[in-house]
Amino acid sequence: MDTKQIHLEKVNWDNFEAIINLHVNKEQRDFVASNKDSLVHACIRMIDEGKRVFPFGIYLDKKPVGFIMVTYDVGEDDGEEPSAEWFLRNSYFIWRFMIDKRYQGNGYGREAMRLVLEFIRTFPAGAAKYCWLSYEPTNERAKKLYQSFGFRELPEHYEDGEEMPAILEL
Ligand SMILES: CC(C)(COP(=O)(O)OP(=O)(O)OC[C@H]1O[C@@H](n2cnc3c(N)ncnc32)[C@H](O)[C@@H]1OP(=O)(O)O)[C@@H](O)C(=O)NCCC(=O)NCCS
Repeated sequence: MDTKQIHLEKVNWDNFEAIINLHVNKEQRDFVASNKDSLVHACIRMIDEGKRVFPFGIYLDKKPVGFIMVTYDVGEDDGEEPSAEWFLRNSYFIWRFMIDKRYQGNGYGREAMRLVLEFIRTFPAGAAKYCWLSYEPTNERAKKLYQSFGFRELPEHYEDGEEMPAILEL
């Protein structure tokens, strides 16, 4: 299939139910929260923490096939305690990313990642030097995909039982 038909659409009143109905395989459930939970988490982050969040449906033409969600943090500049994790400050974070189990392995995830990085590089919430994300160390498919876009692992910030963080210079 032609991945050029892949595009991102903001989550809205018309599409949120279809997006909530997208799911990964049972074996992949430890890799990413459900889309329903992710949208709740987005609301809490906006309402409680006043942060910017950008949730998108990933579409193949008119069909929703996945979900990707970005957020932005200015860290200590907004009154928070300085963090040892420098990449958390003034950076974009690809917080959630999934392609529905029916549509994986067709190049849609790769195209969605390309598009979301293009979006991030418009700096929609403010300036940033880095984009970061994290993944379960056993998630080989995600790891390879991110590495192919230039994400570099930060093993010095990895803690047992947590996800591996990786950054990309914007
Ligand atoms: C990770 C994920 C988003 C990738 O999306 P996708 O549409 O399946 O991936 P693509 O078809 O674009 O392929 C991307 C790369 O994954 C790898 N890949 C794809 N299908 C694969 C398969 N069946 N087995 C192993 N690797 C595979 C390939 O290396 C491919 O790279 P290439 O373009 O150089 O061939 C998707 O598989 C997914 O939702 N997984 C479950 C949730 C998850 O892990 N999310 C990420 C959390 S950090």
